Amino acid sequence: MRPTVARIHLDRLRDNLAWIKGGLNPHVALMAVVKANGYGHGAVAVAHAALGAGASWIGVALVSEGAALRREGIGAPILVLGQTAASEIGEALAWDLDLVVFTPQMFAHIAALAEQRRAPARVHLKLDTGMGRIGLLPGDIGGEWFMRLRSPWVDFQGVMTHLANADSPDPAPTRRQAEIFLNALETLRLAGFKPRFVHAANSAATLKFPGTQFNLVRVGIAMYGLEAYQPLPEELRPVMELQSEVTYVKEVGADFPVGYGSTFTTPQPMKIVTVPIGYADGYRRSLSNRAQVLIMGRRYPVVGRISMDQLTVGAPLDDPVAVGDRVTLIGENRGAAVTADGLAREMDTIGYEIVTGISSRVPRVYDD
Ligand SMILES: Cc1ncc(COP(=O)(O)O)c(C=O)c1O
Repeated sequence: MRPTVARIHLDRLRDNLAWIKGGLNPHVALMAVVKANGYGHGAVAVAHAALGAGASWIGVALVSEGAALRREGIGAPILVLGQTAASEIGEALAWDLDLVVFTPQMFAHIAALAEQRRAPARVHLKLDTGMGRIGLLPGDIGGEWFMRLRSPWVDFQGVMTHLANADSPDPAPTRRQAEIFLNALETLRLAGFKPRFVHAANSAATLKFPGTQFNLVRVGIAMYGLEAYQPLPEELRPVMELQSEVTYVKEVGADFPVGYGSTFTTPQPMKIVTVPIGYADGYRRSLSNRAQVLIMGRRYPVVGRISMDQLTVGAPLDDPVAVGDRVTLIGENRGAAVTADGLAREMDTIGYEIVTGISSRVPRVYDD
């Protein structure tokens, strides 16, 4: 195996889930969101661990993601959170996946295929209460076409919405969305809808707005120990570490150019250390000359441009950095830490993008 790996601490994932579950209102079920290959952590391993730690639902974005989990023997209810194309509905039903629905066309398609299969489909009605992307506007509830969303072949398992600002320090937009959702639920009740599950909360809402938990929460980022909002509660620990190894060290004089475009030249004699990880592994090029890595518990700067498969680190000549030393790009190393959230801040993005971006050529190694 190449020395560059993503180490996935499933024990931390379970601890994170136990802590999150401790904050749930009674009778609230937990959906572990494992889309995008379990936010880069490995969807199958995360799904198994999460179900073992008390999650009873799995959330994915795509039918293909749900099918892959079924193939690996995951039998729990799986909800496809994204918009399912008409061409994928047959596959979704064959794999017994729950689908999100919000247009009459989708509903009709699902009902027709379910009838063909002689097996009712399970769907969750998605309302747009302020996210502004997929979902039915609450004003459309009770409209003429809406009232035709009935079929003995479609079982409305759930009603859901998605909160756009739960991570914000300002609670007002989330309260507003929750109110719109509550009003919509009442209209739905009057229209005869009796869903078993009502859900709205992502990680941030689950933790910060317990009133939005209803009877199911959809938790992703907090389970992985990353910032659902700032600051990250100290009980949550990052599940992924990104590690590599020093594979080459050279001692150079001052004014020595390093990397494509020679964006770094050594200010004095120093060691230039090569580490076999690059932007094709998901360690982003925009971290060139910005990020730091850990070796033997010390921080060293990434110097020069990060290339596709390699990067370079600068170290003082008298530091004992040597071939074979572990390099921690994300994670802990002898008491020091670099976090995905910290790297994200360097790049003006969010931790989600860092971990989902770690590419498939980086082996995932599971520590349990
Ligand atoms: C509909 C839906 N629910 C829940 C989640 C989980 O969000 P988070 O990772 O912030 O907990 C997502 C992820 O983006 C989502 O799209």
